[in-house]
Amino acid sequence: MRAKIVAGNWKMNKTVSEGAQLVEELKSGLAKVDASDVTVVVSPTYVSLSEVVKIAAGSLVNVAAQNVHQEANGAYTGEISADMLKSVGVGYVIIGHSENRTTGETDLIINKKIKSSINNGLKIIFCIGETLLQRKKKLTHKILKNQISKGLKGVKKLNKVLFAYEPVWSIGTGIVPKANDLEKNVNFIRNNLSNKFRLKNPKILYGGSVNTKNVKNLKEINIIDGFLIGAASQDPKKFIDIVKKTFN
Ligand code: 13P
Repeated sequence: MRAKIVAGNWKMNKTVSEGAQLVEELKSGLAKVDASDVTVVVSPTYVSLSEVVKIAAGSLVNVAAQNVHQEANGAYTGEISADMLKSVGVGYVIIGHSENRTTGETDLIINKKIKSSINNGLKIIFCIGETLLQRKKKLTHKILKNQISKGLKGVKKLNKVLFAYEPVWSIGTGIVPKANDLEKNVNFIRNNLSNKFRLKNPKILYGGSVNTKNVKNLKEINIIDGFLIGAASQDPKKFIDIVKKTFN
């Protein structure tokens, strides 16, 4: 069986104490799970990162930041750089989330963020995906190809990049693509990475309305290496249930 990754994206939810409690519950819940092939990742907000890193130390839980600034330092009020993330002990960073793309994050910015994060020893969860309108216009593959080629332009150490295919119309809507659609698109991403970037075995996650009910069907699509989960990752019981169902 392929090793699987289950990553939770808390988005702008959880205070520091709520986040700490969630991770404590995850730790004890996951200790009871046979999780030899599991990589579990949580993504708190910036303000909770160092607390969550402390609590997660020595457990199965890895910690990701939800974003990063593309520059190393300087006059960027309110922003956080990759070496700052590294300094709090974060292992991963989510880059290119559609919620940030819609507020002005361009492919060029994403590309700079990926480079800066790799230079600082972080692993990347690089999000790509088409909007509903793009899908209706049958532009999905064109969009995915474009996001990949611009996002990865000139990036070295591509083995540090995990991919998250998140169709925008699936995020927070309860709508999940049909299995054959999902397979087709993930295969397209795989082939594109293989042909254009010589990436032979990239890890590709699916994200968008994954929950405790649909995860069993989704995990049957064995070209997917795991999930990036929003809402259901904010409830420890649901998240642990998804981890269990992903591996059993
Ligand atoms: P939902 O699981 O809430 O649809 O969110 C998915 C997502 O955006 C993960 O990054």
